[in-house]
Amino acid sequence: MQIGTSLTHCLIERQRDHEGASGEFTLLMNDIVTACKVISGYVKKGNLIGILGSAETENIQGETQKKLDIISNDVFTETLMNGTQVAALASEEMDEVYHLPKGAKRGKYLCVYDPLDGSSNIDVNVTVGTIFSILRAPAGVEDPSEEDFMLPGTEQVAAGYCIYGPSTIMVLTTGHGVNGFTLDMDIGEFKLTHPNIMIPEDTKEFAINMSNQRFWDAPVKRYIDECLAGKEGPRGKDFNMRWVASMVAEVHRILTRGGVFLYPVDSKIRAQGGKLRLMYEANPMAMIIEQAGGMAITGPERIMAIKPHKLHQRVPVILGSKNEVQVLHDYHTA
Ligand code: AHG
Ligand code: MN
Ligand code: MN
Repeated sequence: MQIGTSLTHCLIERQRDHEGASGEFTLLMNDIVTACKVISGYVKKGNLIGILGSAETENIQGETQKKLDIISNDVFTETLMNGTQVAALASEEMDEVYHLPKGAKRGKYLCVYDPLDGSSNIDVNVTVGTIFSILRAPAGVEDPSEEDFMLPGTEQVAAGYCIYGPSTIMVLTTGHGVNGFTLDMDIGEFKLTHPNIMIPEDTKEFAINMSNQRFWDAPVKRYIDECLAGKEGPRGKDFNMRWVASMVAEVHRILTRGGVFLYPVDSKIRAQGGKLRLMYEANPMAMIIEQAGGMAITGPERIMAIKPHKLHQRVPVILGSKNEVQVLHDYHTA
């Protein structure tokens, strides 16, 4: 595909590569693109339309929802439901599986999403995004249950995120590499701007919330201590650090110039299994990272190999440049 080709065109071209394709996947992707354009519009308008700040409600994970968490969830859910290509939906902001109304036209896909990632950043005008993962509903199941969503990341049909930063960028994978498309506001179309993204294998940049340092397990402590020791330490190079507190922004930076991102399990959050959610944060990002030549692990294991046991399950996440994540894997398995 040529730089500047519209996302719509790319999706239809890809459909042509699949003999007998019904066009349902293309339609679903088109709905996701539409939802993200609408959310991008809200994010950019911000308090001009009074949508910053807390909604003063809590999601099932005990987090206070922002107004924009709820708006983004409603936009995404309604757009996909009306698009009729899904059998059921699940979101960070909905306690349980979202079942389509009885008699509603439906399709064969499941979509799991984080409608607004990094929403603690929204009021301070820092980058946020939408993350999504597409799975296939089991054949013959009309109204999928939570159990039907319990598929490992390796079963994802597609994954992506849309980042609402200085520009709005959609990053997608269907298992054949990773491409990025920038929203051209003048014509309302995403255009291919970042073809075949590959992550540099080596890096000198890490991202972790250092305020949790005293709670870390030994392998993470060792890794970060060695990074901080710089040229004089065992790694023999100076490292730089970044922490945006929006996973979309960290992953986008890593796809652009390499790096390693860690939200490990620590003694403070051990009981809940980690901070980030497996099905709509860790898995889609892991698929993108692996497709771009990087690695995504919990510490000892590959994220996408995990068989989920509940919708809002949390996992430790370490991802990014291959050689650096490999060092972390070695430390966890030594
Ligand atoms: P969300 O806004 O969807 O709840 O996700 C926030 C996540 C993730 O984007 C980010 O990496 C992490 O939480 C930040 O956590 P800390 O506030 O602990 O740094
Ligand atoms: Mn999130
Ligand atoms: Mn969120």
